Amino acid sequence: MKGRHGRGESLTRPGRPAGSPLPEPPFDPTEVAARLLAWYGRCGRDLPWRHSRDPYRIWLSEIMLQQTTVAAVIPYFQRFLQHFPDVATLAAAPVEDVIAQWAGLGYYSRARNLHAAAQRVMAEHGGDFPAELDALQRLPGVGRSTAGAIYSIAFNRPGPILDGNVRRVLCRLFALDGDPRSTSAEKQLWLWAAALTPEQHCHDYAQASMDLGATVCTPSAPACPVCPLETLCQARKLGLEGELPRARTKKAIPTQTQVALLLCRQGRFLVRRRPLSGMLGGLWEFPGREVSASETPAAAARDLLRQLGLEGELIPAGAVRHAYSHFRLQLQLFFALVDGPAAVGEETPSAWLNPTELGDLPFHGAHQKALPLLPAALGEPGEANLFPGVTHA
Ligand code: ADE
Repeated sequence: MKGRHGRGESLTRPGRPAGSPLPEPPFDPTEVAARLLAWYGRCGRDLPWRHSRDPYRIWLSEIMLQQTTVAAVIPYFQRFLQHFPDVATLAAAPVEDVIAQWAGLGYYSRARNLHAAAQRVMAEHGGDFPAELDALQRLPGVGRSTAGAIYSIAFNRPGPILDGNVRRVLCRLFALDGDPRSTSAEKQLWLWAAALTPEQHCHDYAQASMDLGATVCTPSAPACPVCPLETLCQARKLGLEGELPRARTKKAIPTQTQVALLLCRQGRFLVRRRPLSGMLGGLWEFPGREVSASETPAAAARDLLRQLGLEGELIPAGAVRHAYSHFRLQLQLFFALVDGPAAVGEETPSAWLNPTELGDLPFHGAHQKALPLLPAALGEPGEANLFPGVTHA
């Protein structure tokens, strides 16, 4: 790392917006890695993907950890490996099976990219993950920071990382003011990330910097008194550790209303699989559609039932809410006992399944939340219920 932040490179003056260059960082940058490595030796977390240096496992964990917490990832990581123990098995599997193992983890394009990347590794790299930063970054779903993490953790080579945790640590360490996602801040943060990345012990340094952000330099109430970087930290020096990084100016998130129909025919409920391409591709759901501004949810539900060629009395069955990255969903549910043909005339695969079979299906999150409403509709075991003829699983 020596000399990478040489005179004239843009290192920002603490407490100033990104873009005001400082000729030298306000401390010896080698000090950061030295302190982080010593701290990691004492306080690093024991996580399942840290028991191996297999690039496949490291890559899988890094993709799962994008936008998802460690606690949520652990059970998925372990179960995924039981199904797909190596890159060859993953590449050879149908993409629907990969999506099914991903169900519940969210951001499903990751599952499709994972499968495409596994096939690329088999076809173009003979089944071995490439040990170069730019080749890693060309794999579907692997951005600059994820490539840096895989390069560092799997190959013990210096790959700068700028994930959410490291971004926060750097914003505070250098007291970066202003929007941390602006183009100039982004450029600055990558320069710092590169300047601080050591040539040695890259495997530990990468994980140390992420752990520090996750466990000490937390978004609120950072634990500065136990932080190994406390005396270097420019935000701490300025009393700004609680204020930096500044909140991004957030766009208002719209709410969309949809209806979903829990349609029961001869003890079975209608479900369908979403097309593979597009949002939540390959996951299962109850029939549903968006409610337009000019109609009520009940009218939309009636219209959908008609379109499916089915008849029955629709009964309101409550609502669930679900948050996506770009909108919030208000999902209004309706039950109906229906008559009509089993084939519902659609291009997407559909099926009539009993409640036990529904429990095994990879639903997407919002419709998964509707499943607990089915037992309510079925009443207590042995009692009369909304769906005569349908029994508890
Ligand atoms: N977040 C992203 N990658 C991580 C890793 N390898 N360990 C812990 N948290 C992470």
